[in-house]
Amino acid sequence: MYCLVYISSPTREMSDHEVHDLWRRAKINNDRDGITGILIHDRGRYLQYLEGDEAKVEATFARISMDPKHRAIIRVHGGTTSRRQFPGWALASKSNPGDRSLRDSVERLVQGCDREVAEELLKFAEARDRVAAG
Ligand SMILES: Cc1cc2nc3c(=O)[nH]c(=O)nc-3n(C[C@H](O)[C@H](O)[C@H](O)COP(=O)(O)O)c2cc1C
Repeated sequence: MYCLVYISSPTREMSDHEVHDLWRRAKINNDRDGITGILIHDRGRYLQYLEGDEAKVEATFARISMDPKHRAIIRVHGGTTSRRQFPGWALASKSNPGDRSLRDSVERLVQGCDREVAEELLKFAEARDRVAAG
């Protein structure tokens, strides 16, 4: 299965509600294109993991890259995984300091993933929790 991971920074701070709306709109396209994965968000960063047909994933990433809602888009990797890691299109978001840690949210969603995929996503969430903790 082809997969792609990138990180970026929101151009302006997005509330959980706004990010949920963005995720919901993306789901319509991703369902159509057979793309699954996860969008992880806190106030300062996005990490997105996309998987599916290579041409579809690349076309989606090309669209996402043009979106002025984020900047400093860095592609972390593109390659293959042993199998589809996510059954659907997931979202883990933390905007408010009082919310559960990003790691906890991500951990629940990566239960079915291969260890190396889960670890990469958890590492990002832990780093963001450290930033949030100051
Ligand atoms: C952080 C972030 C993640 C996004 N993820 C997706 C995605 O997974 N799939 C998608 O189709 N659009 C995603 N978008 C939206 C695209 O940038 C773009 O607005 C959208 O694909 C345009 O399609 P439409 O004309 O059908 O609305 C994302 C945008 C941002 C800022």
